[in-house]
Amino acid sequence: MTRTLLAAIGALGLAACTDAPVSTDLPVDPATGLRIAALPPVPALPDWPDNPPTEDKKALGRMLFNDMRLSGSGRTVCGNCHLQTTAFQSGGPLDSPDRSFPAITPTLHRHTPSLLNLVYAPMARWDGAHFTDIPDLMVLPFAEPNMNLSKLAVSAGDEIDVPAAQANLQRALTVDIPGYAPLFQQAFGEDITTATPARTWRLAGLAMAVYIRIAVSRDSDFDAWNAGDDAAISDAAKRGAVLFTGKAKCVLCHSGPLLSDFKFHNVSTSVPDASGQRPDDGRFLVTGVEEDRGAFLTPMLRSAARTSPYLHDGSQVSIAKVIEHFTSASGQADPLNDLNLLEPLSQGEIDDLVQFIKSLDGAPIPIADLAPPPTLP
Ligand code: HEC
Ligand code: HEC
Repeated sequence: MTRTLLAAIGALGLAACTDAPVSTDLPVDPATGLRIAALPPVPALPDWPDNPPTEDKKALGRMLFNDMRLSGSGRTVCGNCHLQTTAFQSGGPLDSPDRSFPAITPTLHRHTPSLLNLVYAPMARWDGAHFTDIPDLMVLPFAEPNMNLSKLAVSAGDEIDVPAAQANLQRALTVDIPGYAPLFQQAFGEDITTATPARTWRLAGLAMAVYIRIAVSRDSDFDAWNAGDDAAISDAAKRGAVLFTGKAKCVLCHSGPLLSDFKFHNVSTSVPDASGQRPDDGRFLVTGVEEDRGAFLTPMLRSAARTSPYLHDGSQVSIAKVIEHFTSASGQADPLNDLNLLEPLSQGEIDDLVQFIKSLDGAPIPIADLAPPPTLP
């Protein structure tokens, strides 16, 4: 992967900027309408011709996201960990599976990611496991210890029984809570009481995918500045943007409108101990490829200022700490790391990068969308 990054440096002409003084007086390029073309605005929501978004699907998806009767214990909802009011993530490093057992151990072994901008993501999960499409990702937690503790042994780790979970969900949505069938009929024109469990599962995922379209982070102050509004962000944030795409080389991985290449990199966040064991093998668990050990998906960074703690294990509490790690010896502690191209930054430069990331905060999501549904069937 390092070779790819070296090629990228050449393509971006980054090596040339190393010691140049930071100028923030960038012109808007008439061709792109942007000062920094590598960080374009977030595009319009995808169309999804095979699942056209409607208000009925959105309302149904919102209910499924918020209905604790659908969890294994009958007492957990998605929003316990993906809190709508805190950027669809939780503030703790590692959450307990099925929160109705607050003191339960072990905890989940990964940090709960924000669901902001998930609808745009061509890849998700820290190691990319089980990634097929957004509807599938939205319904899969019903098969996992997250939502299904009482039905699955926690010690089973990530072993999941999807057919069993499909049968459970089918029963919950048709027998236990008969009020759901008319809502599925209205949203999809299909009768879930006669559908297969796999079909009902899919429809639930399709509805929840439409619901999660509310979770977008876009139209940030940075985008306004990038499009030409000089006063939209502070000088520090401007310097940070220039650093991010220049000397600090963050853009090698955090690129594009969502500030992610959606690839897996080793950034020394799960380093081997003396016996060569890593706490979490990351992408290796999915591919079995040696050089993927300790590699994790590059997270999107829009609204990242609001999603502390950070990294796959929630081990860093501030963006500044993440950057300090990336640009110091600890970032290169893993023999497989991809960061050996980064150079140390001054505290002032790190502060500027933090201000830049803060300027990526999106416009607020309407409160009415974030609230739980007024009624459940
Ligand atoms: C107990 C906490 C918890 C609950 C409850 C929970 N999740 Fe998650 N969720 C997580 C964790 C932890 C991950 C990261 C898993 C990984 O990448 O290994 C995750 C990952 C995800 C992802 C992938 C996001 C990404 O960017 O990688 C989606 C989508 C998601 N959850 C949706 C849901 C939905 C929908 C529900 C309810 C049906 C739900 N979750 C319930 C903790 C939870
Ligand atoms: C080689 C690719 C790469 C480069 C270069 C890189 N990052 Fe990252 N970044 C990652 C990966 C991979 C993670 C997730 C690691 C993990 O979870 O263990 C990450 C995580 C982060 C996070 C935490 C986000 C979250 O939600 O947990 C921030 C903030 C961040 N990077 C900012 C930066 C900045 C600023 C720079 C430039 C100094 C930078 N990154 C350079 C790949 C990279």
